[in-house]
Amino acid sequence: MSVRELLRPRTAIDLSKRPRRLRATAALRAFVRENDVRLESLVQPLFITDPGQPSGEISSMPGIFRYSVDGAVAECRELSALGINAVLLFGIPDFKDAYASSAHAPNGVVQRAIAAIKTAIPQMIVIADLCNCEYTDHGHCGILDDRGDVDNDATLELLAKTGLSYAMAGVDIIAPSDMMDGRVAYLRETLDASGFTSIPIMSYAVKFASGFYGPFRDAADSTPQFGDRRTYQMDPPNAREALREAALDLDEGADFLIVKPALAYMDLIRAVAEISDVPVACYNVSGEYAMVKAAARNGWIDEDRVIDETLVGFVRAGADIIITYFAKSYAQRHAKR
Ligand code: PBG
Repeated sequence: MSVRELLRPRTAIDLSKRPRRLRATAALRAFVRENDVRLESLVQPLFITDPGQPSGEISSMPGIFRYSVDGAVAECRELSALGINAVLLFGIPDFKDAYASSAHAPNGVVQRAIAAIKTAIPQMIVIADLCNCEYTDHGHCGILDDRGDVDNDATLELLAKTGLSYAMAGVDIIAPSDMMDGRVAYLRETLDASGFTSIPIMSYAVKFASGFYGPFRDAADSTPQFGDRRTYQMDPPNAREALREAALDLDEGADFLIVKPALAYMDLIRAVAEISDVPVACYNVSGEYAMVKAAARNGWIDEDRVIDETLVGFVRAGADIIITYFAKSYAQRHAKR
């Protein structure tokens, strides 16, 4: 008997169901496609520097730049023309101290950027990341207590002050990323008391102490000078705790929840999407970006394919909004002309 005869399908095998039928042509595959990435729900993060700080390309994030305020406005014009409608701002200040004083300066770098972008491109959704680590000389996300740990309650006051200054500058959405307990409620109360009842809070509800933030800390110059962030950011093995954090932030009045990082936490994007009655975002962070760039530069992966696969994976997992350094490059390839 030949091998061919030996391998003939057995009559016991039911081959009436053949999923390959729907994969036969590009048109059929497009016809039955379940998920799509929408340009309208992508957010491009932008790093904005005070005049004394170096601008230019970030070495660990090829293709990502630090911009002056004017440079950021120009970049937003390009993004808008490509169909990217939302940006997330991070500031790199000239002055740092133990109390993050320049975070809430009325003419601080983020405050100026918000005003400049909203004046030039009013339809752009300007989201401001709210945290202290770029503004403290020690690099932690809040005020330190005498043991060198971040003092939760003292930090709330500082965050609220900065959030309010963003509101006064004309921000559309505020995104607290510090992981202090109670900060969504505290910020909501502060905004409401000052009449900013319609500014939504996009909370980094589920944010892990992650090695994937490495390149960001180069970009934003926010590496802690001692210790790490494990007393405030979450422990990576915990899933039940992620749901607790999400539920607390919903209860405190968050208008969006963010899961961060994204790739190693796709299970939690799904889990949070299932319990959330507000839109869920995921943050495809700096290390996830850098890995794709590095492998692509070595010719080991096809960058465009990997980006497309990654972003649609987030949608499939349940993300309504995707914060990604790939937003612009995705739009350059997929913008409707
Ligand atoms: C500020 C903040 C960080 C990131 C977003 N907001 C750094 C951190 O928590 O250490 C990381 C973003 C990225 O890696 O792309 N706290």
